[in-house]
Amino acid sequence: MGLFSKEIKSMDDLFVHTLQDIYYAEKQITKALPKMMEKASNPQLKQGFEQHLRETEGQIQNLEQVFQMMNMEPKGVDCPAIDGIIEESNEIAGEVEDPKVLDAALIAAAQAVEHYEITRYGTLITWAQELGRSDCADLLKRNLAEEKATDEKLTQLAESRVNMAAAR
Ligand SMILES: [Fe+2]
Ligand SMILES: [Fe+2]
Repeated sequence: MGLFSKEIKSMDDLFVHTLQDIYYAEKQITKALPKMMEKASNPQLKQGFEQHLRETEGQIQNLEQVFQMMNMEPKGVDCPAIDGIIEESNEIAGEVEDPKVLDAALIAAAQAVEHYEITRYGTLITWAQELGRSDCADLLKRNLAEEKATDEKLTQLAESRVNMAAAR
C-alpha cells in the first residue's frame, strides 16, 4: 500500500499504517542483528548488538500491545526503507576484510537503523497524542528511549575507535 493510497483516509488510518511499518521493521531488525553480531570483532560492539536484539524482541511485544489497544491484530506492511538500509549494510559489510574497518561499517549501519526507528517512533508518539491515545504513546516512548540509548552507545563506540586510532 503506497503512503498516499486511498485506503488511508484518517489520522487513525495513518497511525495504524505507520505502526504496521515499524512492526515490520522491528521484525527485519531481529533477523539482521544476529548477523551483525557474528561479524563484529570488538567485544563491546558484539555485546551491544546482543543486548539490543533482546530489547528489540521486547519492543515487538510493546508494539503488539499497542495493536491490541487499537483493537487490531498485529500485522506488518512492507517497509522498503528499512529493507534498503539493511541491504546496503549487508553489501558494504560483505566487501570489508579488515575487522577494524568492518566494525566501523557495522557501527555506521546500526546507527542508520536506529535513526530510522527514532524518526518513526517520534512521529507515532506525536500522532498517538493527537488521537488522544496517551496509553499507546507511553508504550511507544519506551521503545524510543531504547533506540536513543542504543544510538548513543554506538556513538561512544565510534568515538573510542577514533581515539584509539589517533593514539596509535
Ligand atoms: Fe527497535
Ligand atoms: Fe533499534
